[in-house]
Amino acid sequence: TQVEKGGYKHFMAKEIAEQPVVLADALRHYLTTDGLNLPSELDFSNISRLTLVACGTAFYACSVAKYWFESLARLPVEIDVASEFRYREPPLPTDSYAIFVSQSGETADTLAALRYCDEKVAKTIAVVNVPTSSIARESDIALPILAGVEVGVASTKAFTCQLLVLATLALKAARDRGHMSEAELAKHMETLRLLPGLLTRALDLDEALNIVSNDLSEARDVLFLGRGAMYPLALEGALKLKEISYIHAEGYASGELKHGPIALIDSHTPVIVFAPHDALFDKTVSNMQEVMARGGKVLLVSDRKGLDVASEGVWQTVQMPEVPDLFAPILYAVPAQLIAYHTAVAKGTDVDQPRNLAKSVTVE
Ligand code: AGP
Repeated sequence: TQVEKGGYKHFMAKEIAEQPVVLADALRHYLTTDGLNLPSELDFSNISRLTLVACGTAFYACSVAKYWFESLARLPVEIDVASEFRYREPPLPTDSYAIFVSQSGETADTLAALRYCDEKVAKTIAVVNVPTSSIARESDIALPILAGVEVGVASTKAFTCQLLVLATLALKAARDRGHMSEAELAKHMETLRLLPGLLTRALDLDEALNIVSNDLSEARDVLFLGRGAMYPLALEGALKLKEISYIHAEGYASGELKHGPIALIDSHTPVIVFAPHDALFDKTVSNMQEVMARGGKVLLVSDRKGLDVASEGVWQTVQMPEVPDLFAPILYAVPAQLIAYHTAVAKGTDVDQPRNLAKSVTVE
């Protein structure tokens, strides 16, 4: 089927804007009135460990999911990029599950990692966008992310839909393992159902982020910071920015800053901080203040509560809608994507088809 840009300048812009709709589709599929709609053979009760493997943006989705599985389901999680995982001969418990996340379902390293795990673990699970793909076909269970065709090389709507499916799996694991009551599950499902509306509100920040991105497009280097599940979001923000704008960007866990990267701070290096007003907010703010004390200019992406207490001395702020802490990474993907998009447009790069990159990496 031919996919059109539908009035947007780039596929990436269209795909970012589609997120409320595709997430709503995925929600309708995975959340029913009586609970979670997942294959009955999925049972996390007696699983000793979970292994999550992917590449690029899909790997960052796995990195967010690690926080969910560990905190909600008390399940130990190992994550790795497929190109490392496949060659390091990892020992795998037979009572474990391995999950492979891939938009295309054809990424060579991820497919090889899946083949390595086959027969060694209790079940291989694919979280894929293309249901007819090799990774979908070769896994024991394939879960579609229902994002629709993604054309832009920079993955956007696939990321948020991957997160949604992984969140659903984490809730299922928490239930199976006796760490979540029926009422708590219902509450989390309610929160997930809020996401399409919240994403629509985050998309309203488009113009504000466009203006900030004009300044960012002048930078040679950009740093992204986050803590907890916002750390993988910082990594994703940096990947997105470098792949389409060609600006050098790095993501760091806020607490790691003083162990090296703070040496990079000067008045020319914008530092983008993803910090919803959550349990770790004060810690992130103190890292942010260390940046500002060294002349760094900070772009703080937070909610009203966060901005009320931490905006002083900040170069730019972006006010996000309030969202329950747990699923904030799904919402904060939007500013990460829009910043990269508008910065690339300001630089005049080929947004949908950036140099040296392919949509699907089917060779090693
Ligand atoms: C993301 O913007 C990238 N283009 C890239 O990192 C991508 O996520 C990676 O190659 C994995 O692709 P897959 O999801 O199709 O396996």
